[in-house]
Amino acid sequence: MSDTTNELQIAKRRTFAIISHPDAGKTTLTEKFLLYGGAINLAGSVKGKATAKHAVSDWMEIEKERGISVTSSVLQFGYDGFCINILDTPGHQDFSEDTYRTLMAADSAVMVIDASKGVEAQTRKLFKVCGMRGIPIFTFINKMDRDANDTFELLDDIEKELGIATCPINWPIGSGKRFKGVYDRKEKCVITYEDTEKGTKEGHTTKIPADDEAQLTAYIGEEARTQLADEMELLGGAGSDFDLEQVQNGKLSPVFFGSALTNFGVEIFLQYFLQMTMPPLPRKSDIGVIHPAEHDFSAFVFKIQANMNKAHRDRVAFMRICSGKFTAGMEVNHVQGGKIMRLSQPQQLMASERKMVEEAYAGDIIGVFDPGIFSIGDTICMPGESFRYEGIPTFAPEHFARVRQIDTMKRKQFVKGVNQIAQEGAIQIFQELSTGMEEIIVGVVGVLQFEVLKYRLENEYNVEIALENLPYAHIRWIKNKDIDVDKITGTSDMKRVKDLKGNPLLLFVNAWSVGMTLDRNEGLILEEFGRD
Ligand code: G4P
Repeated sequence: MSDTTNELQIAKRRTFAIISHPDAGKTTLTEKFLLYGGAINLAGSVKGKATAKHAVSDWMEIEKERGISVTSSVLQFGYDGFCINILDTPGHQDFSEDTYRTLMAADSAVMVIDASKGVEAQTRKLFKVCGMRGIPIFTFINKMDRDANDTFELLDDIEKELGIATCPINWPIGSGKRFKGVYDRKEKCVITYEDTEKGTKEGHTTKIPADDEAQLTAYIGEEARTQLADEMELLGGAGSDFDLEQVQNGKLSPVFFGSALTNFGVEIFLQYFLQMTMPPLPRKSDIGVIHPAEHDFSAFVFKIQANMNKAHRDRVAFMRICSGKFTAGMEVNHVQGGKIMRLSQPQQLMASERKMVEEAYAGDIIGVFDPGIFSIGDTICMPGESFRYEGIPTFAPEHFARVRQIDTMKRKQFVKGVNQIAQEGAIQIFQELSTGMEEIIVGVVGVLQFEVLKYRLENEYNVEIALENLPYAHIRWIKNKDIDVDKITGTSDMKRVKDLKGNPLLLFVNAWSVGMTLDRNEGLILEEFGRD
């Protein structure tokens, strides 16, 4: 495909995931991005602050009850000739698996950090996944209008906790009541902060060249000016130099400071971000690397969500377009399903409002109606082709429970519900190797998923369940092909099960049993992540 329009469209795309610990200001920052660019498509738009605590994306009842965002949403906006896709990720730590998958669909990540808190547990976890993919990570240190931790300490914290070098692109001058703005290290000027009216598009800022001492003193005061000079001298010796290649390989995180609430530093961030990020990245497949602009349409499924809209009782598969152009009504090859098909009801608006997509390009995310045929990680390409994108890793669940339906007459709904929810990837289900469907073991990454499962089965499938916690905490997929699992000499705390796809695996209570089992069975290969 060498259609120049397609190439131009793809070159304009920037697709990033926004991650943070809850309350760091991710939603507020996203809202401010939308102020600068006209929102093109909102797939579950950001939550309206203050008045309504839940986002439009919080369409699931459980989210409303808990005031947390369970599922990721996607939104698209235009800015300065770019077409930007933001993949929102749920902030709650228990929804990490969904978040991990969302990161698989992004080309870079923006990490929002609360300046008075530094790196928090959630950010650390998510970061591991970004690291696995080697995608660029941008840091926005937020809430500078409140008293913040020492800037050097904040940077140190990121470097130590997350193991990535940092390069401040701008530098804050004071914080809280004494926040005066930021120093732009590249432009060598100070952008002053005035407590702008909340939510206004244009903050009142003034740009002052750093060498204009008189004007600078007039704006930020003598004390702040000398402190800035001292800090810049210190930084000269301490910080990493900016290196675009390092940024693009995810080895160096450019750091920005601002206050999303008062709309300071957001546009500055956006402008640098767009200069430093790349259009949709090539992706690995079993026929080699697929380049977004040099290949016809292809995509992979990174998320499946059932019952998004109670009125429709439907299931939507979210796809990240990896190459070429998608046109509504076109025929495609669903590789794993072995079928040529038309993607039904493609939409870019996936929450309460929906908008049909006529065309979309590499970098974009579309949701399509799924009659139950897609699985996470599936590849979709043109009918003349057949290849598979590298699988999305299944993250190791850490909590397990045996689950059964209370009313035995509802076996059918129960099995259907559990299977559908598992296909979405919200839970993983396992069965005893020999006994078929009688006993179902559910594994989750975060315990809150047990509650989500219970709630959804009751509300969407009308099945009450009982959960019995199991002591297993370590899971290993068996990678040896043609192995007789029954012949593995295990430990007393080991259980043999299989996953939804029939892959054999072992559950252990204790970590040392894993090592013991490996010792006892020469040649046995155990892996912590399942990969298709
Ligand atoms: P999240 O999506 O990461 O969970 O964070 P969210 O944007 O919802 O922000 C969490 C809280 O922090 C909100 O306050 C928000 O107004 C506030 N906040 C966000 N950015 C800034 C900032 O730059 N400075 C200050 N001072 N506060 C900020 P809330 O009280 O929970 O909500 P609301 O009642 O203010 O709407």
